[in-house]
Amino acid sequence: MKIAMIGTGYVGLVSGVCFSDFGHEVVCVDKDPAKIAKLKDGKVPIFEPGLEALMARNVAAGRLSFTLDLAEAMRDAEAVFIAVGTPTRRGDGHADLTYVMAAAEEIAHALDHYAVVVTKSTVPIGTNRKVAEVIRHANPAADFDVASNPEFLREGAAIDDFMRPDRVVVGLDSERAKKIMSDIYRPLFLRDFPIVYTGLESAEMIKYAANAFLATKITFINEIAALCERVGADIKAVSKGMGLDGRIGNKFLHAGPGYGGSCFPKDTKALARMGQDHASPIQIVETVIKVNDETKRRMIEKIEDLCEGSCRGKTVAVLGVTFKPNTDDMRDAPSLTIVPALIGAGAKVRVVDPEGRREGEHLLPGVTWMEDAYEAAEGAEALVILTEWNEFRALDLQRLAGLMAVPRLADLRNVYEPDVVRAAGFVACEAVGRRLEGLPGRGLNEETDNEETGGAAVLVEEPARETAELQPGE
Ligand SMILES: NC(=O)c1ccc[n+]([C@@H]2O[C@H](COP(=O)([O-])OP(=O)(O)OC[C@H]3O[C@@H](n4cnc5c(N)ncnc54)[C@H](O)[C@@H]3O)[C@@H](O)[C@H]2O)c1
Repeated sequence: MKIAMIGTGYVGLVSGVCFSDFGHEVVCVDKDPAKIAKLKDGKVPIFEPGLEALMARNVAAGRLSFTLDLAEAMRDAEAVFIAVGTPTRRGDGHADLTYVMAAAEEIAHALDHYAVVVTKSTVPIGTNRKVAEVIRHANPAADFDVASNPEFLREGAAIDDFMRPDRVVVGLDSERAKKIMSDIYRPLFLRDFPIVYTGLESAEMIKYAANAFLATKITFINEIAALCERVGADIKAVSKGMGLDGRIGNKFLHAGPGYGGSCFPKDTKALARMGQDHASPIQIVETVIKVNDETKRRMIEKIEDLCEGSCRGKTVAVLGVTFKPNTDDMRDAPSLTIVPALIGAGAKVRVVDPEGRREGEHLLPGVTWMEDAYEAAEGAEALVILTEWNEFRALDLQRLAGLMAVPRLADLRNVYEPDVVRAAGFVACEAVGRRLEGLPGRGLNEETDNEETGGAAVLVEEPARETAELQPGE
C-alpha cells in the first residue's frame, strides 16, 4: 500500500514509521521545515525509545521518506492520514480543529485519484463528516471516502503499542474504504490483534470515552489516596488489593500528582464541552477535570508542609518535569503547575530531567537546570520526585541525604518505601496516599511528630508489612 502521513509529531511519525515497517510505502509530510530537515538527516525530532533505529531501517529499505510537499506525498497514495495536533481551543475547552481542517483543504487540492482520507488525530464526534464536506467543497470532483482511525499509543512505549495494540478502531461507511483499511492493517489482523470496524461517530466517540475513562480511573485513585492519608490507610496496599480484582484491573491505579500530558487534559475538556453542547453533560468527566486540578494543588501544599509551612528562601530540587517517563513531552505536565507555584512561593527551584530540558527551558523560566539528582540535591532543603524516570527509581538515598542541607523528600510517585527513606537519613517525607509512619510529613522534629501522634510510639513497620502481606501468591 502507498500511504501519505500528514504530521510528523508523536503520533504521525510513529504511525508512519510503523506502517513502513509493515511493508507499506510511506511518505511523511510536515509543515515544519526544521522537522523535515532533521528527519531527512536520519534524526528523530522527539524522544521516543526505539524510534530512530526503526526509522533508519525503513528509510534504508526505501519504504519511508519525508517531504514538505503534500502533493508529492499524495502521489498514488491509496490512503492519506491526518495526524496533526488538536489542542484545546483557547477560551472554551473545545478541540481546536484548525490544523485538521487546513490539512483537509490541502488534501482536497492535491486529490487527483481515489484515496481514503483517514483521520488519526483525536477529533470531536462529527469531525470526519466535516472533513468530507471541506474536501467536497474545495474540490467537487474529488473521488474519496473518509475513515476515522483514532490512535491509542502511549508516548514512551509508542512502537510497541502500535505494533501490538489492544485493538485497532476503524470507523467508516464505505466498502471501498474498508478494503483499503483492512489491507493497511492486515499485518496486525494476521497476528490476531482485534480490528474493530464501526461507523464514523462511534469510532470518534471510542477514543474520547477511552481517554476519559482512564483519566477517571487515575483521578479516582488520587482522591482515594487523599482520604488514605487522613485515615491511615496505605494507597499502595489499597491499589494492589483493588487491582487484583479482574473487573477493575491494576493499570492506572497508581496515585500521583495528577494526570497531565498531550491527551488526557485536552480530551477530557473536549468531551465535557461536547456533552454540554448536546445537553447531555458528562458530569463524571467534569468532576474529574476539577479534582485533577485540585490534586495538583494538593501537591504544592504537600511540598510547603514538608518545608515546615513555607518554601520561601529554600532550595527545592525537583526530579523529573516531563508528564511521564520516557518522553520529552511537557504538554500539560503537572510540573508546569507545581514548579511555578513553588517559585511564586519564594523557593529557589533546581530541576533535573533526562529528556525534558529542551522543551522545559522555555516552559519553566526561573529554574536552574542540573545534570543529575546528586548535583541538584547538594545543599537543597527539599527533594521532590515528580516524574518517575528509571534513574530516579534507584537513587542512592543515603548519598542524597548526606548532600542536602536538610534531607526532606516529597516522593510524589511513591517510588520509595518509608523504612528505606528513614534508614537513609531523611528527616521528613511526604508521599501520596500513605502516611510515612516514623517520618513526620509535617515538621521535622520529634516534638512535632509526638504532638501529632499524641506522644504515642510510631509504628514504622506497619506500612511495609501491610504491603508485603498483599504480594500475589501469599
Ligand atoms: N501524543 C500522543 O500520545 C497521542 C496519542 C494518541 C492520539 N493522539 C492524537 O494525535 C494527534 C496528533 O498528536 P501529536 O502528539 O502527534 O501532535 P504533535 O503536535 O506532536 O504533531 C503534530 C504535527 O503536525 C504538523 N502539522 C500541523 N498541520 C500540518 C499540515 N497542514 N501539514 C503538515 N503537517 C502539519 C505539525 O507541524 C506537527 O509536527 C492529536 O489529535 C492527538 O490528540 C496523540
